[in-house]
Amino acid sequence: MEKLTGKNKINVAVFISGRGSNLYNLIQFSKKKNSKINIKLIVSSKKNVKGLIYAKKNKINKIILNYKNKLNAEKKLLKNLQKNKIKLICLAGFMKILSGKFIKNFKGKIINIHPSLLPKYKGLNTHQRVIEKNEKYTGCTVHFVNKNLDSGKIIMQKRLKILKKDTISSLSKKLLSLEHKIYPKAIKKIIINL
Ligand code: GRF
Repeated sequence: MEKLTGKNKINVAVFISGRGSNLYNLIQFSKKKNSKINIKLIVSSKKNVKGLIYAKKNKINKIILNYKNKLNAEKKLLKNLQKNKIKLICLAGFMKILSGKFIKNFKGKIINIHPSLLPKYKGLNTHQRVIEKNEKYTGCTVHFVNKNLDSGKIIMQKRLKILKKDTISSLSKKLLSLEHKIYPKAIKKIIINL
């Protein structure tokens, strides 16, 4: 079998807007022996966010998008994705909505991680809403991105039982660690078809 070297690994861009714990986790995953991905580009919709320190530390190219003008932001984005020969986009806490046109350009090549058992609890404040609804379970989902929010085909899900003593903060902590487990697994699952 052909050995995957830095040259024939799949180039990945990770899109963030904040803390970047999933980004950090994916960088660690990409450094593992036999890893098939190479994180080539970090895209942030905000400047000075914590996640951007991982670009500097790991010498990964980064761009910051100014979403005041979405058309220009996506033009810059496309240029950089092409320049870096990006084959897979991983959204990881990216708080902007990509245009339908942009998503069409990368059909089947954009994935996202969401802190709920989709299709339940799309959008924001998921932990608060599952608690308010007295749900027995919550979880996280990796899914393909289509033009509708948190609605694309599901790649992988992990369920978590909600305990009586759970709070927004305890759920968010527990789920984040589950997210870090399933995001790399989901990438492994889809990478053969890219
Ligand atoms: C995660 O909970 C993810 O599911 C959601 O945004 C959060 C990002 O966290 N889409 P981080 O920036 O990766 O730490």
